[in-house]
Amino acid sequence: MIENQFVMIKPNAIKRGLIGRIIEKYENKGLKIVALKIIQMKESQAQALYQEHEKKDFYPSLVDFILSGPVIVMIVRGPNAVQAVRQINGATDPLEADVGSIRGKFGLTITKNIVHASDSRENAEREWRIFFDEQEIVNYSLIGENEL
Ligand code: CMP
Repeated sequence: MIENQFVMIKPNAIKRGLIGRIIEKYENKGLKIVALKIIQMKESQAQALYQEHEKKDFYPSLVDFILSGPVIVMIVRGPNAVQAVRQINGATDPLEADVGSIRGKFGLTITKNIVHASDSRENAEREWRIFFDEQEIVNYSLIGENEL
């Protein structure tokens, strides 16, 4: 099943110059970037993105952090993209993430855990729509895509 996954590279990863090394992991897996931009997120977007955590004690620090600098938002497409990206990212807590995953390799704390990705196809669509219009998604083929 070809899926669209929503991915965000968090401010600490941008400030540390990790953009290329993160995107490379998704490309190496055979996934395709079909939308991408670097933005300073608005507070209303952060609230929409993290609405399910609104009542949690870590919510204020999570929103402060995500507004602390630019983020990259993107839509990553491919077979089973939702689960594939979550595997590449690793567990939410970098200390529990596989050391070969993005969070396991680059992260130290759960708040500044380098990347975000949606946890279901439904949430992926809800989350990418916070940042993109449908017309911003670009359709093209990767070389060898049909052999995946
Ligand atoms: P993310 O994938 O962006 O989705 C919600 C974020 O909340 C999560 O990554 C973590 O950065 C953060 N988070 C989740 N649980 C905790 C926690 N117990 N303490 C602090 N931050 C948390």
